[in-house]
Amino acid sequence: MGKMRTHSARWRAGAVIASALLVGSMAACGNSDTGGGSSDDGKLTLGFSQVGAESGWRTANTTSIKEAAAAAGVELKFDDAQQKQENQIKAIRNYIQQKVDVIAFSPVVESGWDTVLKEAKDADIPVILTDRSVDSADKSLYKTFLGSDFVKEGRLAGEWLVEQKKTASGPVNIVELQGNTGAAPANDRKKGFGEAIAANPNLKIIASQPGDFTRAGGKAVMEQFLKANPKIDVLFAHNDDMGLGALEAITAAGKVPGKDITIITVDAVKDGMQALADGKFNFIAECSPLLGPQLMDLAKKVHAGEEVPARIETEETTFTQEQAKEALPNRKY
Ligand code: AHR
Repeated sequence: MGKMRTHSARWRAGAVIASALLVGSMAACGNSDTGGGSSDDGKLTLGFSQVGAESGWRTANTTSIKEAAAAAGVELKFDDAQQKQENQIKAIRNYIQQKVDVIAFSPVVESGWDTVLKEAKDADIPVILTDRSVDSADKSLYKTFLGSDFVKEGRLAGEWLVEQKKTASGPVNIVELQGNTGAAPANDRKKGFGEAIAANPNLKIIASQPGDFTRAGGKAVMEQFLKANPKIDVLFAHNDDMGLGALEAITAAGKVPGKDITIITVDAVKDGMQALADGKFNFIAECSPLLGPQLMDLAKKVHAGEEVPARIETEETTFTQEQAKEALPNRKY
């Protein structure tokens, strides 16, 4: 009898705790349903819309952002847009509805952001652009842009080529693998490279097409280039991954990458650096994906209402084959 009373008392106590937990969790759901996405534990909530997972660079960038958020005590809401602008706009609208403290995103393309950025501004949520910028004329729609100078990366790639080919007597045929159409790094790297080689009539871009920053895209487009053009001297790929995909096409066509065709890329992720150290690539202009710690710092500052610089440029370098051999053992990504 005594035992039974103890059991039923325990059961009642358990039921009370369970229903309290249920009410608590329903209240939490209600908060987020009604837009209470901002955490009430004093943590800053950052909504981040990532471009996708198209390249080694992107994977390293995502890791950097997630690790930095955890280290900085920032509650991160992360969305992968799978290279689609409509997914990014949807994610940003969700973050606005959830009333996050700060929104950050890396825009898949440059144009078409004014409406959603205005919605964030009207909701009083500061926006930070990371990695890629937008072409909005109204600069008050975002607080700052943290990322690389893509024009400079293209220019550094072009200047290296000009130096290498300065004694070439005949025409030097160049093919170019661009990033996804409309993306800032595709537009800007093309521009910088074109400007750097412009004064040298020997250096001619004979074909230029998007490979979408992916290995598969780089391989497929390079196959077409090789079929259509019997003499290709140089490949300029807007990132390592497209260059790595192109290596397969070049080898399959019976040519020796790095010798028959000079290969220049951008990024300097581990696989790209390995190809450079192995003599399959010839030159890489670096683009650093390690933006996480700076992003968390900026998010805290803009949330606190502090002034931040309108533009923060990432520090970067370039690599030759010899420099890649030296740098590889310590390369983190
Ligand atoms: O925006 C940065 C670019 O995007 C990187 O160079 C490329 O690898 C990525 O996909």
